[in-house]
Amino acid sequence: MSVLEEAKRVAAEFEYSQEDLKKGVKAFISQMHEGLQKKGTSMSQIPTYVTAVPNGTEKGLYLAVDLGGTNFRVCSIQLHGNTTFSLTQSKVAIPRELMVAKTSHELFSFLAKQIENFLRTHHNDHFEAHIKRRKTMSLGESFRNEEIFQLGFTFSFPVNQIGINKGTLARWTKGFDIDDAIGQDVCQLLQKEINALNLPVKVAALVNDTVGTLMARSYTSPGRTGTLVGAIFGTGTNGAYVEKLEKVTKLKSMAESADYDKSTGNMIVNTEWGSFDNQMSVLPNTSYDEALDQATPNPGIQMFEKRVSGMFLGEILRNAILALVQNPKCQLFKDDSSSTNDLQSTTSIAEDSALYKPWGIDTSFLSIVAADSSPGLKVTRQELNKEFGVDAASTEDAEAVQLLANAIGKRSARLSAVALGAVVISTGNHVSRGGGDEDVVDIGVDGSLVEYYPGFEDYVREAFREMSEIGVQGEKRIRIGIAKDGSGVGAALIALVAADMVND
Ligand code: BGC
Repeated sequence: MSVLEEAKRVAAEFEYSQEDLKKGVKAFISQMHEGLQKKGTSMSQIPTYVTAVPNGTEKGLYLAVDLGGTNFRVCSIQLHGNTTFSLTQSKVAIPRELMVAKTSHELFSFLAKQIENFLRTHHNDHFEAHIKRRKTMSLGESFRNEEIFQLGFTFSFPVNQIGINKGTLARWTKGFDIDDAIGQDVCQLLQKEINALNLPVKVAALVNDTVGTLMARSYTSPGRTGTLVGAIFGTGTNGAYVEKLEKVTKLKSMAESADYDKSTGNMIVNTEWGSFDNQMSVLPNTSYDEALDQATPNPGIQMFEKRVSGMFLGEILRNAILALVQNPKCQLFKDDSSSTNDLQSTTSIAEDSALYKPWGIDTSFLSIVAADSSPGLKVTRQELNKEFGVDAASTEDAEAVQLLANAIGKRSARLSAVALGAVVISTGNHVSRGGGDEDVVDIGVDGSLVEYYPGFEDYVREAFREMSEIGVQGEKRIRIGIAKDGSGVGAALIALVAADMVND
């Protein structure tokens, strides 16, 4: 068989049909409901105690930090109250050793230090004034609230939220693994390190990045319609949405039930859909997915995320490419012209190639390959050479890689549509409300995959049209907008609500 035929055979293993899509949506809705009723389910459906989305009139200066999967961002946000804001931010890559540190102190003291650096750089007047005042104050005197920065903490991992600025870490995801943090209140862990540095900062709100995205999109989105879902398709994936309070029945049995405003009749729920169908009842599975799962610190967990998000797609592709390279019948990256008297062809991959290293392929490679329309796929061939030491890849080799990358990217987007479509349907938003502004179903998204993977939204929309409940008409009503820097602005918005609520 030719290289291309072999690649097509592997690519076909990633096909996710209309039938699969329908089964996926049905199971997703059922697991959403289950998660609203009881604790300990596959999809956690965590109540956030945030009960309303903003309308764009909110004002003030707030701090926000965002611990995502790859970077740590510190920002200050001035909300102007007219749906606009100004944002100042700094970003550092989280050192790998801190992701798997021995103690949470190592990670959280690093975070507090970044906050200090940010304040010194961007808000030095305020910072110095605070230090001076602290020195002249008598012991026991406390600071006035307005002197303290209210900080929204975006912490993008599964947390059992107990209140607006309290929540215990349920488990790590995205390659993080620090044992002693599990079960601890992450706000307290951060506040402790902030206090150790004497910073004028109070951790006022704990926010998942999806909730931040939902809030930010709602603040900035045009028209009167509030946003229904905030979703991240980046290093990890997850979504938060506006649910009817009465449907979150497990709230009643949650002993630690927090104080929150019940008057809106709504509650924003953090689905933690990365763990949808950990039991693998409907999720697609290939040997390449299985190899990936085994290489993670949490096999059997986050099974949806491991098929969808940026951290994992490169590794799935690597597994698929390696399967072809190691198949003696397949000529991918093999150079048979070099040996004349020998039928054995040699591979043109450098021995120390990243192709042989776990996690050696970054998802950005998928985006580059998927976007390549250069003659003879020159760009892909150059990338293969530069990044993976594949010397003299043929056009056919590049086409094979592109086939695989597209298949993996498309499956990811169609699975993403399952999650978004299921939320739209289960909340009744697939039913038209008679046209006009009211009819728009607004979805805020963020993350490297939606932003950079070519055609991601088109694939999602195509899948929406294939869902009988949504269909061609319903798909048109769905508006998807990038909420750039959403988690920072969103955290600020929640810190604002929280500061009004808890003035302690
Ligand atoms: C985490 C979520 C987060 C998502 C996107 C997942 O791994 O469990 O809490 O929202 O990544 O960052």
